[in-house]
Amino acid sequence: MKTKEELAARIAALKKEKNAIILAHYYCTDEVQALADHVGDSFYLAKVAKETDAAVIVFCGVSFMGESAKILNPEKTVLMPDLHADCAMAHMAEVERIKEMRAKYPGLAVVCYINSTAELKRHSDVCVTSSNAVRIVRALPNRDIYFIPDQNLGRFVKEQVPEKNVMLCDGYCPIHKALTADQVLAKKREYPEALVLTHPECTGEVLALSDYVGSTADIIRYAKESEADCFIVCTEVGVAYRLRQDNPQKRFVFCDPCPCCADMKLNTPEKIEEVLSSGKNAVEVSEEKRAGALVPLDRMLELAK
Ligand code: 13P
Ligand code: SF4
Repeated sequence: MKTKEELAARIAALKKEKNAIILAHYYCTDEVQALADHVGDSFYLAKVAKETDAAVIVFCGVSFMGESAKILNPEKTVLMPDLHADCAMAHMAEVERIKEMRAKYPGLAVVCYINSTAELKRHSDVCVTSSNAVRIVRALPNRDIYFIPDQNLGRFVKEQVPEKNVMLCDGYCPIHKALTADQVLAKKREYPEALVLTHPECTGEVLALSDYVGSTADIIRYAKESEADCFIVCTEVGVAYRLRQDNPQKRFVFCDPCPCCADMKLNTPEKIEEVLSSGKNAVEVSEEKRAGALVPLDRMLELAK
């Protein structure tokens, strides 16, 4: 078995040989984030995937992320360290229901959280991420909006954009849904001076207790700029790595039990080496799906500028 340093050196050599870059989401393990060329939230990673000159992208995230990278960049090879890394929420909407909604509301815009399958995307008008959903929904000319699949991000958007008729579906992230208001209140009793920073995939009760709501990148930015020195962080524990690196003097606490996305943790340095050397686990998307899903993804990148 290789030491950590040997593994890192081997991965660096393979990256050079294959003209590859490694992208990792903030929810990956510390070791994976440390190896990555770019670490970010879903929006940032989609942008990097679209703009990179590398021939190979190793995407350490979950399947909708690798799939989106491939859709945006079909001539590139996109490898995933573990093809089983999936996001449960990405499947929590139905094409049939989208069609019913379109028939009922002729001026409807279907707004699709990027945490969704390519099949759902290709039946949607525009994609969003947690960092731009409010801005994009507000900018759309349509008044009737069907927001899929996340009911929690959808409800947050609906509250921020009251001038629109935002209709929700019932998808959710199991990790963020399991984080309860009681858990946050318990932490607030322990750390009464702490600010509560929350991802919009959390429930409305948790958002109501929060001082700031934003994507993982927004939370990281807010914590860095804040004068406060103690924070209760209501999202997946992977963000702790960057938060503590950026702010060694500040304190970051998580609820009990600590939110952890097992799928994100399937990405490991060993599997990165394996796919880089073998070329295994290439993401494939049929041309029909790719062409359809590209439209809402490109529209997001355009509207988010
Ligand atoms: P971000 O938009 O902050 O990257 O969040 C993605 C995600 O999967 C949250 O659970
Ligand atoms: Fe999906 Fe939730 Fe994991 Fe994010 S944390 S990838 S939304 S299951």
